[in-house]
Amino acid sequence: MMKKTGVREYNDLINKYSEIFDLDMIDGCLNWDQEVMMPPAATESRAHQLATLAGIIHDKITKKRLGTLVERVMKKKEKLDDYQRANVREIKRRYDRATKVPRELVTEFSKTKTLAFEAWQKAKKEKKFEIFSPLLEKLVDLDRKIAEHVGYDKEPYDALLDEFEPGMTAGEVETIFNTLKEKQVPIIKKLSSLAAPESSFLNAIFTEDKQRIICEQIAKDLGYDFTRGRLDVSAHPFTIGCHDDVRITTRYNEKMLLSSLFSVIHETGHALYEQGLDPKYKRQPVAMSISLGIHESQSRMWENIVGRSKEFWAYYYPKLQAIFPEQLKDVPLEKFVKAVNLVKPSLIRVEADEVTYNMHIIIRFEIERLLFSNKVEVKDLPALWNSKYKEYLGIEPGDVSEGILQDVHWSMGIFGYFPTYALGNLYAAQIYYKVLEDMPSLMMDIQAGNFQKLREWLRKNIHLKGRLYQPKELIEVVTGKKPSPEYFLKYLRDKYGRLYNISF
Ligand code: CO
Repeated sequence: MMKKTGVREYNDLINKYSEIFDLDMIDGCLNWDQEVMMPPAATESRAHQLATLAGIIHDKITKKRLGTLVERVMKKKEKLDDYQRANVREIKRRYDRATKVPRELVTEFSKTKTLAFEAWQKAKKEKKFEIFSPLLEKLVDLDRKIAEHVGYDKEPYDALLDEFEPGMTAGEVETIFNTLKEKQVPIIKKLSSLAAPESSFLNAIFTEDKQRIICEQIAKDLGYDFTRGRLDVSAHPFTIGCHDDVRITTRYNEKMLLSSLFSVIHETGHALYEQGLDPKYKRQPVAMSISLGIHESQSRMWENIVGRSKEFWAYYYPKLQAIFPEQLKDVPLEKFVKAVNLVKPSLIRVEADEVTYNMHIIIRFEIERLLFSNKVEVKDLPALWNSKYKEYLGIEPGDVSEGILQDVHWSMGIFGYFPTYALGNLYAAQIYYKVLEDMPSLMMDIQAGNFQKLREWLRKNIHLKGRLYQPKELIEVVTGKKPSPEYFLKYLRDKYGRLYNISF
C-alpha cells in the first residue's frame, strides 16, 4: 500500500505554507478590526502594521527555498493524491505570481493606489472625473505591466481575471455575457414596462434592535454557526475568515428594512461556504474557497434564489409581522413578496435587483477590457459609460458620482474583479437546477423552514471540494454541464413569469 504522506518534501512544503496561511488570517483579523472595532485615531498605526505584515508575507511566499520545494514535489507528483496535488498547484500558483512581478513595480502600484483612493473620494464628492483620471491612467498602465510579467493567453485582461476566477478567460466571459445581454435586455424591458408593485409600506420606520432580532434568527436558521462566527456592524457588509472563525457584518438603517435583511442572508451564504470547508485540510490551500465567482454563487443562492422566494417568506413573513406588527399588519404576504422582487433599472450596482444586476457588470467588463487592450482612452470613459447605460438599461447618470465613479474597486487598483459578480449569479442558477433534480421537494422544505438539506447538499458538492478543481471544472463536475447563462435566464423567466403571471 502506498503511504500518502510518504513524500517528505511535500510535508515540508505544507508546513511552510501553513505559516503563511496563519499570517493571512492575522491580516484578515486586523482588517476586520479596522472595519468594525478600531478607534479612528489608530488608522495610521494600522496602516504601518498592515504594510509590515504584507512585507513579511511577501518575503515568505517568494523565498527561493519554497520554489525549490515546489519543484522537487512536482517531480514526485504521482505519489500524491488529488488533494495533495491541488495543494501543490495552488502553492505554485501563488509563488509564481509573487515572484514574476518585480518588487519596484509592486511598490509603485501600491503607492499609486493610496493616492488614487484619496483622489477618487475627492473626485466623487466634487463630481469631477478629471481629479481621478490621471491616477486611473497610471494604475491601468501599471496593472498592464503587472499582467505582462504574470503572463497570459490572449490578452492582458486574462491575467487580471485569472487572479479572481482562475482558469477563466476574457474570451469565455465575453461569449457568456453576449448571450446574457441579448436575452436579458428584453426581459428587463418587459418587466419594467409593467406597473411597479406597491411598496410604500417599506418607508415606515423599522427600529434597529428589532431588525437585529430577525437578522440573527435567519442567519442561525440557515445554519450559520455562531460559535464559529459573529455578526457585527460595518459601513459595508462583508465576510472574512474561514473554518472556525468566520465573521460577517451588516449595517442597519431604520428606513431600509430590506437592506439589512438581504445583506445578512447574502453574507450568511458566503459564511456557510467558509464554515463548510473541509476541516481535515485546515491551514492548507485545498481547504479554502476556490474563487470569487463560486463564492458569490453561494451568497446569491441564499440571498436571491432562496431568500427572495415566495416559499421563504411564507415561512418567515408571519415572524416578521410579529416583530413589526404596526408596520406590516395590513400588508399581505403576496404584496411583501412582490416588493422584495421589485424590478427597476437603476444607476447604482449595489442597489440593483437580481434582473438588472448583471447589466451593471457587463458594462464594467466591456469598459475594463477596452481599457486594457488600449482601445479607449481614460478621458473618454464617462461618455462611454453613459452611452452603455442608455443602451442596456435605458437610463443615464446625472453626474459622474453616480456613473463612472460609483464604485471603489478601480481606486484600489482592482481590475478584472467585476465579472465574478455576474458569474456568481449564473453559477447559482445552474447549481439550483441541479439541486432541484436531486431534491425535487427543495422549495417545500424551504417553506417548512428546513434549510438543512440544501445546506448539506451545497456542503457536500461545493464547500468540501475547496480548491480541488478550478471554478469552471467544479461547475462541470457538480452540474454535468459547462458554465452557461441559460440556467439563469430560465430562472428569471420562470420566477418572474409566475410572479407577474406573464410569459416571456
Ligand atoms: Co458577495
